[in-house]
Amino acid sequence: MAIRLHINIDHVATIRNARGTRYPDPVFAAQLCEQAGADGITAHLREDRRHIRDEDMHRLRASVTTLLNMEMAATEEMLAIAERVRPDVVTLVPERREERTTEGGLDVQGMRGVVENAIARLRATGIKVSLFIAPDEATVRLSRELGAQQLELHTGDYCHAPTAHELERLRVAAALSHALGLEVAAGHGLTRQNVIEVARLETIVEFNIGHAVIADALMVGLPQAVRDMHAAVNRGVAQRG
Ligand code: PXP
Repeated sequence: MAIRLHINIDHVATIRNARGTRYPDPVFAAQLCEQAGADGITAHLREDRRHIRDEDMHRLRASVTTLLNMEMAATEEMLAIAERVRPDVVTLVPERREERTTEGGLDVQGMRGVVENAIARLRATGIKVSLFIAPDEATVRLSRELGAQQLELHTGDYCHAPTAHELERLRVAAALSHALGLEVAAGHGLTRQNVIEVARLETIVEFNIGHAVIADALMVGLPQAVRDMHAAVNRGVAQRG
């Protein structure tokens, strides 16, 4: 089965913004990732614009030739931007200003109305909608009911404590999502080491990986870091049932 590796280039912008320079350019990074075989580019436009900025999203849209996945909170401001940028996919994520990174999945039950409205608006614009959720059965079922086309399972807990229990939670949630007709993605905290076990899960068709690839890129260069991550993912896929 062909598996998609989407590279999240947020932290190229983190390094740029640390000095207020124009380099390194996340759009150039996205081009290098695509040339190295990435199947898509992921960028998170956060409310506080700590890394990716509005202009980056527009430039990415003009440049990306694979798939552009925009991660965002389900707010009015972000919906309006997504309608202008028109990424191929929007992944709705929870967002809290004080967090270091996206902690936990979307509270689909608690934000039911907001999420349902966001999905309807984005789908009406022709944008595919993915929800970033914890690997939890009730959340999977509700996400489908609200109209999501894809679910991205939060792998953070597994990466923190790579136990058989956490892997089983991912396996069960992925299998249920697939059985309900949803595409299954996974991401957060994945590295060349821990991605292999997750890639063995039969029903996962996409990974979104950022921090570890950008960190590896400091040592071996971005194209090599993308190729190395692709090889790790494919190692897991080759071990499927
Ligand atoms: N997927 C989603 C929905 C995310 O919010 C993030 C982090 O921005 C990632 C994947 C990538 O996580 P990491 O940078 O740890 O690879």
